[in-house]
Amino acid sequence: MKTPSSSATDLNKQGMEHMISMKDFSTKEMDNMMELMDYLKEARKDNAIPQLFEGKSVAMIFEAGSTRTRVSFEVAATLLGGHGLFLSPKDIHLGGKESIDDTARVLSRMCDIIMARTNEPETIDGLARMSTVPVINGLDTRFHPTQMLADLFTIKEHMKEGQKLSDLTLAFMGDATDVCRSLLLTCTKYGMNFKQIGPVKYQMEQEWLDIADEYCKESGASYEITDDVEKISECNVVYGDSFYWVTQYDEKEERLAAFMPDYVITEELMAKAQPGAMLLHCLPANDQEEVTREALEGDYSVAFDEAENRLTAQMAILVYFTNKFTVTPSEEVKKMHADKINNLLKTL
Ligand code: CP
Repeated sequence: MKTPSSSATDLNKQGMEHMISMKDFSTKEMDNMMELMDYLKEARKDNAIPQLFEGKSVAMIFEAGSTRTRVSFEVAATLLGGHGLFLSPKDIHLGGKESIDDTARVLSRMCDIIMARTNEPETIDGLARMSTVPVINGLDTRFHPTQMLADLFTIKEHMKEGQKLSDLTLAFMGDATDVCRSLLLTCTKYGMNFKQIGPVKYQMEQEWLDIADEYCKESGASYEITDDVEKISECNVVYGDSFYWVTQYDEKEERLAAFMPDYVITEELMAKAQPGAMLLHCLPANDQEEVTREALEGDYSVAFDEAENRLTAQMAILVYFTNKFTVTPSEEVKKMHADKINNLLKTL
């Protein structure tokens, strides 16, 4: 983390500075965040969420549309006593009249955390390079790290008694998307076995497999990239995502022809997976394309719990980074500032 302009930041606290990719944090840090998620979810059920983001703001830059990421960050900030600022390209100068560097520097001086969904990886990397506060990747064309926290937590909530994450094999059905790539790295880092099941043309790029190879050596996990749908029989978690992103509408017909019907998640496909297999989907879902409505509504589907856990994850992220980089002022310091200001006000 770079030296900030504010003295309210404790540089002695080490570890993850930004949350850009799955490479940025250790399994220990992810475990810590999931423990926080547990407590915050319980607190939310009791309507008793501690105000751990009070007086703080998260700048939320969205260059692309979002339902879950936008709403979950904004609601998380509110529930924790703080504020989320929604900043679309129409609202700020980023990408137009102002550089990424200057935008990061200015937002860092006013906000406590910057979260951004960007069209270009260079934008989120640039924000992180120049920001003096933590930068969270709310999805770029490479990674979706905040989705991963919600996904792992949801899998843990729904796996069978006595099962460990390392006992599971997750199958991602479809294209090597940001979510697929993030799952490959998360699973192999965490000791979970991973499969991408999809047509050869849309399979994972070698550079990410090289990183996964390193993770597998450490964790004992394995991965397989295959076009063989029958491999679903080895899987405990089936994961769906759109066959095309908003920037790929011009390829929609070609992609649908490549993926359908073989790689569509149907009730029949779920029946071929391991007994008790669960279905996750990052949403939004295109009914009758990558997943059928019947499968999405099946007893095995945890897609809407997963969506709700985006809120649980964002609460944990805001609390985690606030705790890591903010010094809580003593009552003495608070009183000293209040007295000075009130004394001045009496003279005005
Ligand atoms: N899964 C996900 O990121 O959803 P949104 O695009 O709605 O944020």
